[in-house]
This record gives sequence, C-alpha cells and structure tokens, in this order.
Amino acid sequence: MKNGFEKYIPFKPEVLPDREWPTKVITKAPTWCSVDLRDGNQALIDPMTIEEKLGYFKLLTEVGIKEIEVGFPSASDTEFRFLRALIEGNHIPDDVTIQVLVQARPELIKTTFQSIEGAKNVILHFYNSTSTLQRKVVFNTDVEGVKKIATDAADLIRALSEPYIQAGMNLTYEYSPESYSGTEMDAAVEICQAVLETLRATPEKPVILNLPNTVECCMPNQHADQIEYFIKHLPSRDCAIISIHPHNDRGTGVAAAELGILAGAERVEGTLFGNGERTGNVDVMVIAMNMWSQGIDPHLDFSNMRDIRERYESFTKLPVHPRHPYAGDLVFTAFSGSHQDAINKGFHYMEQTNSDYWEVPYLPIDPGDVGREYEPVIRINSQSGKGGSAFIMEYSFGYKLPKEMHPEFGMVIQHETDRVGKELHSSRIFELFKEEYVNIDFPYRMLSHQFIETENPDGSSHVKFIGTLQHKETVFDVEGEGNGPIDAFFTAIRGQRMDRFEFINYSSHAISDGSDARGVAYIQLRDQQGRDFFGVGESHNINLAPLRGIISAINRAVKAGSK
Ligand code: KIV
Ligand code: ZN
Repeated sequence: MKNGFEKYIPFKPEVLPDREWPTKVITKAPTWCSVDLRDGNQALIDPMTIEEKLGYFKLLTEVGIKEIEVGFPSASDTEFRFLRALIEGNHIPDDVTIQVLVQARPELIKTTFQSIEGAKNVILHFYNSTSTLQRKVVFNTDVEGVKKIATDAADLIRALSEPYIQAGMNLTYEYSPESYSGTEMDAAVEICQAVLETLRATPEKPVILNLPNTVECCMPNQHADQIEYFIKHLPSRDCAIISIHPHNDRGTGVAAAELGILAGAERVEGTLFGNGERTGNVDVMVIAMNMWSQGIDPHLDFSNMRDIRERYESFTKLPVHPRHPYAGDLVFTAFSGSHQDAINKGFHYMEQTNSDYWEVPYLPIDPGDVGREYEPVIRINSQSGKGGSAFIMEYSFGYKLPKEMHPEFGMVIQHETDRVGKELHSSRIFELFKEEYVNIDFPYRMLSHQFIETENPDGSSHVKFIGTLQHKETVFDVEGEGNGPIDAFFTAIRGQRMDRFEFINYSSHAISDGSDARGVAYIQLRDQQGRDFFGVGESHNINLAPLRGIISAINRAVKAGSK
C-alpha cells in the first residue's frame, strides 16, 4: 500500500466552536428502533423468509424494542406479504409500533399505504438522498431539487394519510435525509425544516427526523458535531424527534451513536449484533449493555443473551464473533494468569464485603446479568497462572484451596498445559487435582484407624489414635495421643520414617455434591531440606480427613525425592 491514499478526499468537519456535547453524560436510554428486518435483512446473503422474519420480529419484541422497522413493503412481493402476515396474523403487540420504509417516490408511497392497512401503530418512514456526492453522481440535481423530492413526497403522504388517521391508525411520520453526514449541514437543515412544515409537524404531533450516517465517513466526535449543529439550527426543533442511524464503516458506529446521544439524539436506529449493510448498522445491544454497565437502565432485556444470539444466528445465518462485546463465547473468559488472579480476588472481595456494586477487575459486567455462568470466566491454557486453577476448583467444584497451595497446584496444571499444548477443560483440572492430591496412597497408606475421644474435666478434649499403616509391603501398628486428631497422629508416627516432616499448616471446609456432604482438609508439611508439600484428605469423618491429608502430603514428598 505505497500509493493510492491521495485519491481520498478528507472529511470536512463542521465548525462548531461552542459545542456542548463533550461535557455531557448519558443519563437515560434513547428510544430504540430496530432496523434488523429492513436494513439488516437487505444485507443478508439469503434474506429471511417470511417465517424467519416472523420469528425475528418476536425476538425483537421479547428484547423489549418498541419501534421496529419491519421492511420495505413496496420493494418486493415478499416484503409486502410479510407485512400483511404480521398485521393479519395479529402478531404485533399493542405497545409496539411497526415502521415501514419507502423512497420518496409517489408510486412506492401508494403501495406502502396499502401494505399498512389495519395496523394500529405505524411509523411511515420516507427518505431521499441529499448528500453532495449523490446529488452530483446519482441525481444530477441541486439542493432545491432534492428538497422538492422530499416535500412532494411529504405532501402526498399527508394526503394519503387522512383515511388511515380517520380510521383510528396512530400514524407517525419519519423523514431521513439519506447520507445526512455527507450533506452540507445547512442544506440538511433547510430540507428537513421544509419537510416539517409540509407535514405540519407540531410539538404535540412531532415528526421523526432521522439523520443517517449512511456510510460512516467521519470520526465519532465529528458525527456528534453534526448532530448538535443540526439540532441548534433547526427552526422547528420542538416539532421534531431527533433520531440517528449510524452505520459502522469505520468501525466506530457505537462510539458515533453514544456521542450522538450526548449531542442530543433522542432515538437510535440499529440492529442486534450490528448486522446491516457492509460493515453493519450500529449494534443496539452493545449500546444498551454499555449503558447497563454504567448503571443506566437501557429498558432492553438481554438477560438470556445466549438464546438471543442463537436465534439471531439461525435467522440470519451469520455467526456472532467469539469476541463480540457482551455476547461472544470468549468475552468473559480470562486465560492470562494475572487477569485470573485479579478476577479471583475480585470475586472474594465481593463475597467478603457483600458489596452492592460490581467491583471485579477485568469483568466490566457481571456475566450472570446476561445469563452466563462463572465457571467459564477462567479457562486454563499455558498462559494461565497459579490463581486460575484454584478459581476453577473453588467455583466449579467447591474446593477452597489455601492461598499458599495455589503456586504448587498451578505448577501441576502448568506441566500438563505445556505437555498437551492446549486448553485444559475444568473436568481435566479436577481429575489432575484428584490424581495429584487425593488418590495418592503410595508408599504410605492407612489400613485401619480408630479414634477414642475423651473430654477433660476442664472441657478440653483429648484424642487417642490407634491405626494400622502400610509402607510399601510392610504393615505396622501405631498408637498415640494428643489434644486433637492431628496431634495424636503425629505422636503415633513418632519414631517412624514418616516423622521427619514438620507440620506447618492446616485448613478444612465442608463440601457437598448433592446428597454427599464431607470434609476436605489441606495439610502443609515441610521436609528437612525446607521444602513444603501439600496434601489433601477427604472424609465424611472430620477427624479422618486431616490424617488422609498428612499421608497424601508425605506420599507426594516421597515421590518428589524428599529424604
Ligand atoms: O443508511 C441509511 O441511510 C438508511 C436510510 C434508508 C435510512 O438505511
Ligand atoms: Zn441504513
């Protein structure tokens, strides 16, 4: 790419020295309008069938979208029939308004009116292109020419509306100066003002003025300037609802929409997951979830994101990228060790403080909000660190490994990821934990045991341990007393080769899966070379679990060559 960039004309930004949007913040959701069934559908390799469109319409209503552009009924028989099926099949909830798109052309406008017969709430959306480029290249006309196309259409629409309004239809008008962002701002204002006047818009019966970024051609801040400029210069501002319709050609559709809202837009048109012409329409789900993550109710429901995504994928035959914000398979997953560690700490912090707020590093929202599980938040490959495997043991299997044990268990898992060279599923991590710490009964094992507990006159307890142990082929009996089972066991093995380990630490907790409740004990021992080894014991008997943990730690130490 050495040559060629010179042929592009840089965008000429509107001069707006007194812009106010940069210091504003978003505090409430705009009116959402879905254009999935029109802009989205017209961009599909195989446009949706009537059945698929009906299914998609239902999905949009379940998400909570109240204004839905259902098609371009004058464009094809399928589009027309879909609209009839929607209306005649009573598929439109009373609180949902359907929107139909039509070019500012008389014969198409007439067909469009026929298509909406019998509907309760309708937005009739008409458009013509007003941009400098299209006037020059496509229409060979000037601003007056495109203004006349718009106002002629507005005139006809007003006349044709009468019987529908008389019959009780709640009819709203929407006008789009298509390619608004490529139109001189003053020209766009002039055309839209003329449309408002022709339609006799009032503050009580406003007209939606939709300002499309038809081909995203500038930076989001420049888009915001264009919206603010328009709003400030439109004489009949109070007779209009300002709507934006960002596309995503530069990959900044969401940013453009958010800054557009700051600049005063009251309504946003877009699609789920950003399907739409070329690089797509703006992704309504992402804007809504961004609001959610800032403590603002978007009034849309994505609590079952996986179901929404799957239905979207089956209707459009388009996959949602695994890293798609809020919806992709991998977006709540941390492979990297330091991220896992911080997430782990975040989860503990939330538990300990009972915080009302979501304060977990690396997770901008609670995955549970969109119906995701915590388990896949941390996944283990060769990039993962010590905390990740411990997190999985805790959140997937209920084992709260002591912090000091994390590096050791992390090493066990790291060896395996290095060996296999790919991700380890959580079930494999559990298997490795069991193999390494629990199912280890060589060279030492306990064949039988007995505890005799007595209570001293001062209330303290006294435990006697009597057991039969095995070291390789040799079986031997031991016996010892102490103020608890661990103490008694260490007394019992005094004089055996096992007694060369110093007891460092112990922790335990109850664990249950289904009906089976048992205790898990984690034991830390130190050998004579100063090396620490952990062992894990499980038992329904709380006295026995730590002894199994001690034997596990000794066996692991012997296996590691401890003298
Ligand atoms: O992108 C666009 O300009 C459109 C109009 C028809 C609103 O989709
Ligand atoms: Zn569009």
